[in-house]
Amino acid sequence: MKRILSKYKYILIITGMVACIIMVSALSNIGSAAFKNIDNKIGSDALPNVDDYLRTKFEKLGLVPVPVENQMSEEKVELGKMLFFDKRLSGNNEVSCITCHAVDKAFTDGRATAVGVKGREGQRNTPTVLNSAYYEKLFWDGRATSLEEQALGPITNPVEMDQDLDELVKELKDVPEYRRLFANAFHDEISTKHIADALASFERTLIVKDTPFDNYIQGDNKALTTQEKLGMEIFAGKGNCMTCHAGANFSDNDFDNIGINNRDFGRFYVTDQEEDKGAFRSPQLRELTYTAPYMHDGSMKTLEEVVKHYNEGKHVDQFTSEDFNPLNLSDKEQAALVAFLKSLSGKPIKIEEPKIP
Ligand code: HEC
Ligand code: HEC
Repeated sequence: MKRILSKYKYILIITGMVACIIMVSALSNIGSAAFKNIDNKIGSDALPNVDDYLRTKFEKLGLVPVPVENQMSEEKVELGKMLFFDKRLSGNNEVSCITCHAVDKAFTDGRATAVGVKGREGQRNTPTVLNSAYYEKLFWDGRATSLEEQALGPITNPVEMDQDLDELVKELKDVPEYRRLFANAFHDEISTKHIADALASFERTLIVKDTPFDNYIQGDNKALTTQEKLGMEIFAGKGNCMTCHAGANFSDNDFDNIGINNRDFGRFYVTDQEEDKGAFRSPQLRELTYTAPYMHDGSMKTLEEVVKHYNEGKHVDQFTSEDFNPLNLSDKEQAALVAFLKSLSGKPIKIEEPKIP
């Protein structure tokens, strides 16, 4: 009897699974049917709910996550901003965070790879700090798990700011205004921990979510052009971009090798796992219009070049991701994808340079 029951159990499970598969494929057919010749129909009355359908595929950017141990306050943000601009943070007092994360370049430096103190050249491209508050892992290889942890990295990095942390604390303690500002923000003395906390708090205010794309997601159908909407559908559909550029911040916080082989092993240095060779964290995609060149080594100058790279989908070694394959997009589709990527950029953020004490 028991055995008969368990046999039925399997039949039931299998029937259930088949039913699920039929339902899922029926639903996705509705989707793809709606998108046949989408570029002719978007915006026309023939398919009034295309916009609603597109919106279901994307998420709105929510509030910035803030760790309990480092709650936000105006005092911390003001102090963090000052530190971000202050060259005292580098060993020779010539380089500040702003040197590489410049306001007028959407917090990047416009170079392929960064240049730090005494003209020392780094290996990697400077990513924007904008929206980095949404990442679960920081740096191209994800070696830091919070902005607090990240902040001390560039200060001590010999190629970037080359500063001794005890020396920095001493230098700041010599400035009465800094003693006052740290006391106001933390009710405590100056310490490396508080320097990191203040920098992180400031970075959590550097958020971009006023882009044509975001306005569209909020319900403004006219915020995107027909071409951008076509690009949006390709991004979510046959372009396969959302496999990795997932969620509201366009990053799944995971690591992949997408065929840029330049002997920087990326994530491998952190995990020591063979399969992580050449893998980097999927970067967020807002403000790309201002953050060229692209990729961890700054090897691509334009978004057209980036899209061409994905369209070709060439595997350079055995570690290249299975989710990275030739796309066979037409020229028109590639141009639409580029247009969509550009719609993720808003007006450049402007912040006033603070007066350094
Ligand atoms: C010499 C140029 C340079 C300076 C100075 C510099 N950075 Fe960076 N920054 C970089 C580079 C290059 C990376 C990427 C490094 C990597 O991934 O290995 C980076 C990464 C970051 C990230 C991570 C972004 C992401 O996408 O994960 C943040 C946040 C950041 N920097 C903040 C700062 C702060 C705060 C300071 C000042 C204390 C600073 N940077 C100083 C070049 C610089
Ligand atoms: C397999 C995961 C994966 C897929 C699929 C994927 N990406 Fe990426 N993307 C990445 C990773 C990882 C990087 C960084 C790679 C590097 O620097 O070596 C990246 C980088 C980028 C960049 C450069 C961003 C910058 O700031 O430098 C753009 C733009 C981009 N991807 C757009 C797309 C588009 C458009 C698609 C779809 C056609 C797509 N990606 C599909 C993982 C992916």
